[in-house]
Amino acid sequence: MAHVDLLIRNVSWQDRDCDLLVGDGKVVELADAGAVQASGARVVDGGGLMLLPSLIDAHVHLREPGQEYKEDIASGLSAAAGGGFGQVMAMANTSPVNDNASVTRLMLQKAAQAFPKGPWVRPVGALTMGLQGKELAPAGELARAGCVALSNDGVPVENTELFRRAVEYAADFGLKVVDHCEDPWLGRGGVMNEGEVSGRLGLKGVPTASEAMQVARDILLASYLNLPIHLAHISCRESVELIARAKERGIPVTAETCPHYLLWDETRVGNYDTSVRVNPPLRTRDDVLALRQAVRTGVIDILVTDHAPHAAHEKEVTFADAPNGISGLDTALSLTYELVRSGELDAADIARLWCWRTAEIFGLPANRMRPGDPADFVLFDPDLAWVATAEALLSKGKNTPCLDKEVPGRVMAHYLGGEAVFSR
Ligand code: DOR
Repeated sequence: MAHVDLLIRNVSWQDRDCDLLVGDGKVVELADAGAVQASGARVVDGGGLMLLPSLIDAHVHLREPGQEYKEDIASGLSAAAGGGFGQVMAMANTSPVNDNASVTRLMLQKAAQAFPKGPWVRPVGALTMGLQGKELAPAGELARAGCVALSNDGVPVENTELFRRAVEYAADFGLKVVDHCEDPWLGRGGVMNEGEVSGRLGLKGVPTASEAMQVARDILLASYLNLPIHLAHISCRESVELIARAKERGIPVTAETCPHYLLWDETRVGNYDTSVRVNPPLRTRDDVLALRQAVRTGVIDILVTDHAPHAAHEKEVTFADAPNGISGLDTALSLTYELVRSGELDAADIARLWCWRTAEIFGLPANRMRPGDPADFVLFDPDLAWVATAEALLSKGKNTPCLDKEVPGRVMAHYLGGEAVFSR
């Protein structure tokens, strides 16, 4: 047997008690508890803890460069480490925008300085210069500098011809396009889901058709070009139905949603709580049910946080004036576990939705608990609830509806390459 320097004893892996044997930063073996001796190894007691692969978040906003008062790469990565995320895909809506190699390199350098052993930033380059939708960004340069995908992020590309060329150009460099699906006109200026609740609250709404129209456009393009498009933060039933049909026909689209769309609906806006102002907006109960089903069946491939930290003073304004976004890295695993506890998801879905499928879509490394895989893993206490106070959240962004609420399940330790990057 290969050299073993770390042994995690008695940890629960998909309802089995196991020992995880680690050597030289890699998984040596995941064995039945007590089945293998490993003399000389450092032993960590995993009793009562759940083993998970280190998670990947394919959609975060780290705000650096340019908006470090909201978050910086170091604070974002400390929230990632504590939240169980070993890789985070950082969106390009920084200032300046990540549309050239110097910004990508800066992000990677800052990350390496703050966390030389990970978590790893995987930058997502801009699809168009300055996210302006007018001129393509240099996909080759961005790929060579370390971008793992391209996206115009919160600013949909209006010009469909340009968007088509961008998808083709990105594919030339092996990069996938992540598209924020929102019609540029329908619902413009809206601040919540359009419907009875928005009418009652007197807030301008964004109809679900705004998202679904763009999803339909992307499906048609992906089919015509036979090129992959990844659909960002899907929020409604119409989109789910379109994606399901596209997948049945073998069209190469993939999709993500966020824990907040699986847990909460538009009624949460009822008291004008700006912590639930997010784009796309929280939808109806029916949309929540459609998304849960889609996540279970794989119609929606993965979960992401859309971690969007904002400063407290920015959210302490009227609902209509507040910026969009929920800070997500600290609480994502707890919120996912809430869905497991309520029977909406199986514990085994966590690894698929937050790691393995994400790695497949974006070509990233992942720990599948097989010999030789990177020893990137999380020890999670499913029975330990915690209160998400401002102090407990490691992100600078305290803008979450969970603030000061109790959430279930706590990351106790996080290892990357066999070394602890976080423990409590
Ligand atoms: O809620 C959101 N916040 N949605 C987006 O698309 C952008 C993000 C941000 O950057 O704050």
